[in-house]
Amino acid sequence: MDFEQTFSSPGESLTMTFTMAFGIPAYSMSYNGKEVIKPSDLGVVFSQVDMSKGLNLDAYEASEYDDTWTQPWGEQKQIRDHHKEVKLYFTKNGSGEKMNLTFRLFDDGIGFRYEWPEQEGLQNFVITDEVTEFNLAGDPVSWWIGAYQLNRYEHLFNETRVSEIDTVHTPFTMKRDDGLHLSIHEAALTDFASMTIANNGDNLLEADLVPWENGDKVRGSAPHKSPWRTIALGETAGDLMTNYLVLNLNEPSKIEDTSWITTGKYTGIWWDMHLNTKTWGSGPDHGATTEYTKDLMDFTAKHGFYGVLVEGWNTGWDGDWVSNSDIFSFTESYPDFDIREVTRYGDSLGVKLIGHHETSTGISNYEAQVDDAFELYNEVGVEAVKTGYVGDFVEGGEWHHGQFMVRHYRNIVKKAAEHKIMLNVHEPIKDTGIRRTWPNMLTREGARGQEYNAWSVDGGNPPNYTTIVPFTRGLASPFDYTPGVFNLLLTDKPENPNNNRVMHTLAKELALYVVIYSPLQMVSDLPKNLEDNPTALEWVKAVPTDWETTVVPKAEIGDHVVVVRKDRDSKDWYLGGITNEEAKQINVELDFLEQGITYEAHIWADGEEADWEANPYPLDRIIRKVTSETILELDLANGGGVAVRFTPIN
Ligand code: NOJ
Repeated sequence: MDFEQTFSSPGESLTMTFTMAFGIPAYSMSYNGKEVIKPSDLGVVFSQVDMSKGLNLDAYEASEYDDTWTQPWGEQKQIRDHHKEVKLYFTKNGSGEKMNLTFRLFDDGIGFRYEWPEQEGLQNFVITDEVTEFNLAGDPVSWWIGAYQLNRYEHLFNETRVSEIDTVHTPFTMKRDDGLHLSIHEAALTDFASMTIANNGDNLLEADLVPWENGDKVRGSAPHKSPWRTIALGETAGDLMTNYLVLNLNEPSKIEDTSWITTGKYTGIWWDMHLNTKTWGSGPDHGATTEYTKDLMDFTAKHGFYGVLVEGWNTGWDGDWVSNSDIFSFTESYPDFDIREVTRYGDSLGVKLIGHHETSTGISNYEAQVDDAFELYNEVGVEAVKTGYVGDFVEGGEWHHGQFMVRHYRNIVKKAAEHKIMLNVHEPIKDTGIRRTWPNMLTREGARGQEYNAWSVDGGNPPNYTTIVPFTRGLASPFDYTPGVFNLLLTDKPENPNNNRVMHTLAKELALYVVIYSPLQMVSDLPKNLEDNPTALEWVKAVPTDWETTVVPKAEIGDHVVVVRKDRDSKDWYLGGITNEEAKQINVELDFLEQGITYEAHIWADGEEADWEANPYPLDRIIRKVTSETILELDLANGGGVAVRFTPIN
């Protein structure tokens, strides 16, 4: 039947019109009275049947849902899930295949997914195309990285009008000329290909599924569901950061007792290798020795951090380790690393060893050993493991973000949960909120992190990078950027032909602990550099990794970001503010503080004449009294930042 019906979100800020004309389903969407998505087609094409046209709408139903749930850890403890759901049921004319489409309308965004109920005709299906469209009203400015590139998601972001984009990864973030911000992404990517966004011209965007090596997009058998396609909306950039649509669209935790899951800060035998002062492989400069690990454990215990990451502890790193995908052992240590001795030593100090599994994309080698590897970690008391997937194509020809790897990453998360192991995944699939379902999936990389400052041929991440990444990759959630390099000019590096360095001030480095959320935050630099600057280290020791709530008082993508978060375990608030290469004064109203209370604001600010390029180190430590009525003037140097701790004193 032909059909047209408009539905609205609970508070009516968002409306979605669904139409059925000539057998083709389509939707359009408005926000606060402004058209955002013009009529856009929906559907999926299977090798055996085209479920994007020739459809009949059999029925639909609408309902409302309102609940508040608690994150066991995170940037926001309580999250309200208030939405209207519209479920539509279709049959293919003639052959009779069934498909359902579910929309969830929130006041700050929309999600929709396809579902194929159990049926004879869709056993062992192959999806060859998804035709979901996002037909944008207007030509917003956008921040993006190209899909189908070598080096996975590790690129600087382009800023162009949407009309000029290639095929791009999500979260794909845009700002319209009227100020409205939106971001297209997906939620609950479980057993499907990742969605990238293709540009069909005239601001008509289309879902593009990352294929298997042979060109199939998705393999499966009904019953099966697609991930949710999501569009988050906000009047400001900050609204996008505190938009919990993607988490709300994931299923509740499958781990009943989450008490073993913790957050914390960690040091590591890691930056040494990126600087080239130690090696992953065996030899005179081998980093992962029992002795060096114990030194790091002493340092870690002294400053109260959670654990020590040790990379290069296991055999298989010798030679060009990027090509060692078949020879890594995940249970056998190099002779100069005694895993039982270091974990025993760590226990005596209250410090954990953090495990490391670099696969170099050797998935079969890893899967064959992962049970034994997790058992070894269980035996010696390792609770958190960093995994790595360096390489461009997996098992010869699969993309990191195709269905093959989506399945692999998911299997490892489940296996880790069975072993009560928390994960920090590098070279991951993008985050689509599965930490709600599997809260042991703590954090991941999936963007250019700090390590690019050590060796990237372009010299490192430019000053504006960290003002963009919270609104692109960051919207997909926790990011193990690995802050905490105090020796910004990398003077420990034996050779530095590309003038690598950290391209911002020391105060900005500190601010990143609040601006970029991660439940595991690294304290990356070498202990001597950290201890050389006790004022900066004092901040790193204080800043929490688990928050009650997050507020974004000021943000302009690519220009500046100010984030405030309240500690879960005290009444303290923490602020991180950063700018791009330009100095600026940002005035922040402290109305998030509790009224009637006086707070001591401890401020780590850019010192006089601080400038990221010429003089990055000056750091002032200021204390002043403030209340919720105060307007705090933040003075940020070129490429600078500010970090503030607010502690109530009455
Ligand atoms: C790339 C990761 O991002 C990095 O943190 C790690 O040190 C290397 N791979 C080795 O696993």
